[in-house]
Amino acid sequence: MRDVRRQEANTDSRVTIHMAASLDGFIARRDGSVDWLETSDEFADGETMDPAFVEAFLRTIDCYVMGSRTYETALRFEGQGLGWAYGDKPTFVLTSRNLPRVRDTVEFYSGDLTQFVNGHLRPAFRAVWFVGGGAVSAECLRHGLADEVRYSILPILIGDGIPFFEKLDRDISLHLAAVKAYKTGMVELCYEVRGHRGDSRHAT
Ligand SMILES: NC(=O)c1ccc[n+]([C@@H]2O[C@H](COP(=O)([O-])OP(=O)(O)OC[C@H]3O[C@@H](n4cnc5c(N)ncnc54)[C@H](OP(=O)(O)O)[C@@H]3O)[C@@H](O)[C@H]2O)c1
Repeated sequence: MRDVRRQEANTDSRVTIHMAASLDGFIARRDGSVDWLETSDEFADGETMDPAFVEAFLRTIDCYVMGSRTYETALRFEGQGLGWAYGDKPTFVLTSRNLPRVRDTVEFYSGDLTQFVNGHLRPAFRAVWFVGGGAVSAECLRHGLADEVRYSILPILIGDGIPFFEKLDRDISLHLAAVKAYKTGMVELCYEVRGHRGDSRHAT
């Protein structure tokens, strides 16, 4: 059933999971804090993040999807004057609760993620970005919905926290498509998810 729905989806669209994590694989501390994202390393041979490039790149993203706990963090950041990271792009929040809708671009969804991604998002958007957290990223992978995983590793170990992918039920083979190291010591890994949608390197 799941595969049939995949085939019906818009094949031009691409679903990306993107998050930043500590080297030991955590996206937040247990209490949800992400203060450790501000690191102070310097890697002499690294690339500089050019704001114009970042801006142009962000324009290529057509919509964001996130879990309710990530949305609550985004609301907290905004409340602290740190701004809204998702610009004016449609932002879909997965939740079964009644959360405050702080802007017109935010929409809530509850239910079958496969149906939502393949039936609603893929036909409407080319570049769909899942931006966390760990629970939603794992749900996306478990249902075979992601085409790409972008993992930004920060130069820090935090020992414990919320894992990047919470409870996967099987191995997921990846193909390393790109690597970039930055002056800040951050390494960005871009992996394609193997074994679906015309990929000749079928997953085992
Ligand atoms: N380092 C990074 O790049 C990064 C990125 C994003 C987030 N974070 C951090 O990660 C933490 C949050 O991650 P998390 O794994 O705890 O939670 P999460 O993935 O953000 O949210 C999980 C919640 O989303 C809702 N949900 C998921 N699938 C659903 C579905 N199909 N239908 C309806 N609701 C659904 C459920 O909440 P309800 O109870 O509302 O139904 C679920 O408990 C935060 O601390 C955040 O700051 C870090």
